Amino acid sequence: MSQREPIIAIDGPAGSGKSTASRLVAEKLDYLYLDTGAMYRALTWKAIRENSDLTNEKNLVELAKKTTIKLTKDRKVFVDGTDVTVPIRDPELTKRVYYIARVPGVRECMVALQREIGKAGGVVVEGRDITTVVFPDAKTKIYLDASVAERVGRRHKELKDRGYSAEVDEVEKELHSRDEEDRGRKIAPLRIAKNAVVIDTTHMDIDRVVETILDHVKHPKARNE
Ligand code: CDP
Repeated sequence: MSQREPIIAIDGPAGSGKSTASRLVAEKLDYLYLDTGAMYRALTWKAIRENSDLTNEKNLVELAKKTTIKLTKDRKVFVDGTDVTVPIRDPELTKRVYYIARVPGVRECMVALQREIGKAGGVVVEGRDITTVVFPDAKTKIYLDASVAERVGRRHKELKDRGYSAEVDEVEKELHSRDEEDRGRKIAPLRIAKNAVVIDTTHMDIDRVVETILDHVKHPKARNE
């Protein structure tokens, strides 16, 4: 793939610190930030809104093809012109994203859009299959991880900060089932890519995570061969 500017690809499970770290790295480098999870969430929003049968893969692919998803620089998400930035984070919607994310034809649409947005480079792209499927030739490939307890704690705090009341054990259940779905999916499962740098963020604050990623961008080293 010919790239004018580097692509920084970041994968990892929920609560690994991906979104915050990716956004901050993009700000530091003055790169574009691409949150691919927001795209799967956006299509889920539309499917729910249209009362689509979430088990009918053919219809979901049709839906993906006729839907326009836009992510703006100020991190707003639009579906066919409607601002869905807030509702796509609803925990009830989060539970349903996997119906959308497991459909090969839907992923094809999403990946095509992601490659289009990222093709000029100068972008930090985060998700589950970015280092393995979307941009396997990215200059920097990072896999962020953290212990389950730490990820549950972060996710719980995130939900509370967004105004949702959530019990810790509920959050833990949600995280476990999402881990299983994302890792067990037949298509584009969450995996540590060959050549990815694994960063365990359990005992790191966000500034250190960002510094560590920037360090790998500048001085590529230890890799998962
Ligand atoms: O922010 P959080 O880690 O909770 O999730 P997200 O990145 O917004 O992604 C939500 C869901 O979308 C994930 O659990 C995946 O099932 C799916 N997803 C995916 O399949 N592929 C991606 N590249 C990004 C997200």
